[in-house]
Amino acid sequence: MSCLMGIDIGTSGTRTLLIDEAGKLVASATAEHPLSLPAPGWAEQNPADWVATTIETVRRVLAETGIPGAQIKGVGLSGQMHGSVFLDAKDEVIRPAILWCDQRTFKQCEWITSKVGRETLKAEICNPVLTGFTAPKIIWLRDNEPANFERLRKVLLPKDYIRLVMTGEYVTEVSDASGMALLNVPERRWSDVVIEKIGLSKDMLATVVESPEVTGRVSARFAEATGLTEGTPVVGGGGDQAAGAVGNGIVEAGVISSTVGTSGVVFAHLEELAMDDEMRTHTFCHAVPGKWHVMGVMLAAGGSLQWYRNKLCSDEMAVASLWGNEPYVLIVSEAAEAPVGSEGLIFLPYLSGERTPYPNPNARGVFCGLSLRHDKRHLARAVMEGVSYGLRDSFEIIESMGVDITQVRASGGGARSEYWVQMQADVTGRPHSYINVDEGPAFGVALLAGVGTGVWKSVPEACRAAIQVERTLDPNPENLAFYNRGYLVYQSLYQKLEDSFDELAELVELAPTPE
Ligand code: XUL
Repeated sequence: MSCLMGIDIGTSGTRTLLIDEAGKLVASATAEHPLSLPAPGWAEQNPADWVATTIETVRRVLAETGIPGAQIKGVGLSGQMHGSVFLDAKDEVIRPAILWCDQRTFKQCEWITSKVGRETLKAEICNPVLTGFTAPKIIWLRDNEPANFERLRKVLLPKDYIRLVMTGEYVTEVSDASGMALLNVPERRWSDVVIEKIGLSKDMLATVVESPEVTGRVSARFAEATGLTEGTPVVGGGGDQAAGAVGNGIVEAGVISSTVGTSGVVFAHLEELAMDDEMRTHTFCHAVPGKWHVMGVMLAAGGSLQWYRNKLCSDEMAVASLWGNEPYVLIVSEAAEAPVGSEGLIFLPYLSGERTPYPNPNARGVFCGLSLRHDKRHLARAVMEGVSYGLRDSFEIIESMGVDITQVRASGGGARSEYWVQMQADVTGRPHSYINVDEGPAFGVALLAGVGTGVWKSVPEACRAAIQVERTLDPNPENLAFYNRGYLVYQSLYQKLEDSFDELAELVELAPTPE
């Protein structure tokens, strides 16, 4: 039996899986790697840890299935986007990688925007320069660690560093490269204008290809470390969002995914380039050759409910651990006891700042409308409703761009709660469907490996072979009518609080240090 391998280098760990040539999951393995938060707003990882978890998980899936390396037809790579691996002339990692969720580059984003101009950025990279993106991280290195900048020869994204270790090639692909703020997204090539205006050089960057293309072959050294066979083709793969979308079959017009993990992402395939005029959503190249995608990104969707669980639900966590149960099951059943609308309580889910619809690092979470009658059932429900309203923001923006939405596929850890997905259908007024697989980005890039090695002719053909809709939850009309009114209040709250968020951010800086 021939198989295809997908590897996803995520923020919490690496997941490697095998699928067969019918697109069916054969085996998977995960290993965690540490995250370092060395200063407020900073997030870093050591690329050597990604190499270790990649080697470990590849060895494990091969050992557990007994499938010899020679039967792996191709490998696809996915990973957390935007991170910067800084390499010197000998390919030594210069300093820990700065990650997608790191907020240190606010000043560098402003500098790049003033140097290049917002209109040029819009035309070239189709997005504003955000703190998480890669270009401002390079400029941060120049401004703050000149000795390291002096040594810098190449900047690679996380999965592309793993490709270098596997194959010796400096290659990236269009979907991940779109998140560097250095790619001309309409033309799917590096942006000479942006690179030149901010004083960088194209030599620092990898070669860009389309996502299913073969980019190199497994080296003898990597084969020896893992059990793979030397010469196995490695395809471009994709940034985790585009790769996850391929794994959900979001590769044709009209089919949209709504993925609730820590973040919340509403993702639509685009046949033709399109963008939100105010750039509240991201327009990036898709992992489908010659196509694009648009996505709305909420930074704390599942992350809001996780915060609620960690900070306010020690009882639920203790009971769940006694029963060998998931605390979220208890929390959702409590939320279900509160009435629709949580008796006038509204939650704004901006616990980590926000990207869509308000790209504002100073935005913060809010409970508005608390009364003496409210208890934890209402708080839990309000958090779930607030996240659902936030997802609706992304749907509305994407639809206002003229994108047709004919089917929504629910995915991610949050989709394990059917109650929450039903609520999202009610709040957004859109039926939400479940599909037969929810294996995330590693599955998507295993499909891309199949396209690159000739198992399937195209990405849509691969998705049609492997992915089917299983069932659909329709909106409840009475709840929808209620939430249509609630949404107006939800939206008005940010407008009223925007200045206060900035004032609070300043105030935090001024707090006297305790004696
Ligand atoms: C996408 C994004 C995240 C990271 C981490 O823009 O920031 O999906 O890739 O998963």
